[in-house]
Amino acid sequence: MKALVLVGGLGTRLRPVTYSVPKQLIPIAGKPMLYHVFDLLPPSVEEVVLAAGYRAELVERYVRDHPPRIRVRAVREAAPLGTGGGMKNAGGGLSDPFFLLNSDVVASADLAAMERAQRRSGGIGTMALTEVEDTRPFGVAALAPDDRITAFVEKPEPKDAPSHWINAGLAVWRREVLDRIPSGRPVSFEREIVPGLLAGGVYGHRLSGYWDDAGTPERLLHAQRLLFDDGRGADPRLPSGSSGQGPVAAMEGASAAGATFGGYVTLGPRVQVGTGARVTNSVLMDEVLVGAGATVEGSVLGPRVRVPAGTSVRNAVLAADGEAPAP
Ligand code: GDD
Ligand code: MG
Repeated sequence: MKALVLVGGLGTRLRPVTYSVPKQLIPIAGKPMLYHVFDLLPPSVEEVVLAAGYRAELVERYVRDHPPRIRVRAVREAAPLGTGGGMKNAGGGLSDPFFLLNSDVVASADLAAMERAQRRSGGIGTMALTEVEDTRPFGVAALAPDDRITAFVEKPEPKDAPSHWINAGLAVWRREVLDRIPSGRPVSFEREIVPGLLAGGVYGHRLSGYWDDAGTPERLLHAQRLLFDDGRGADPRLPSGSSGQGPVAAMEGASAAGATFGGYVTLGPRVQVGTGARVTNSVLMDEVLVGAGATVEGSVLGPRVRVPAGTSVRNAVLAADGEAPAP
């Protein structure tokens, strides 16, 4: 089996951090969200193909420097081609069937069971579905009693949503779906292609565990919480010399002696949190400096952001040019 992982989005909802870093490399619960997606892959997968575009060189470099347990190959697109265009561009040499995975979802999902369901069904594809209250940001499926998908609407108005079961961004498709995607122009797989595939038999695979899409600041921090609560990615100990409450995931070279934590925190590589500072429910990316006595809460801080001593940052998404205001 091979898996095609879509990593070419612009991450607009996580700006300004994503002006410099692709969304997939933002760490949650101690590692980039892309690596949590790798963790979902069953042993049948022998190669991952990354459909890369935006900031592809950073994704490629990270993967080269931090080799995952599965072989990874990146295929670049010169300009964003959308999800379908990215599949078409990177889809040479995939297995039949293949996994198609978004790179910004966290889930408790048994993809081996989904692969078996696909092989049993004889259909053209199987999409993992999860049930949510607010369907507006997602693709929504209507299901027959045997879980065959009878309609699929991407990001519908609530009145047009056929159910509360949404595309979880994890699927298995027969390779022939690639033949249905036009080349050389941007294509939304969900809007333009999926509805036309339903006649060939597309089945829903209902997930029962946790799920989220980490594509907005609030949901990224929620996704981090889900992963921590699932025991993924965290060292149960607090960083040396710090106190308070975990979980805290400290990546290589992060230090926080004399700091206090309120839980659900990732400290990226070489982050320094000063004495008397307090950090809760946040992601601090590479080399962030939190000054003595400062407070960081509910925030995503991009690489090298400096939080001056004694200041507070709450519910913010900041890149290095955005310093916290003076007290
Ligand atoms: N290669 C490539 N090129 N990848 C892209 C492009 C592109 O132009 N645009 C987006 N992607 C990647 C993103 O990096 C992400 O991993 C995935 O495709 C989905 O894009 P998002 O921008 O995160 O889409 P979404 O969250 O609004 O909606 C999608 O995911 C939902 C579940 O989280 C859709 O698949 C929905 O149907 C689904 O419910
Ligand atoms: Mg998304």
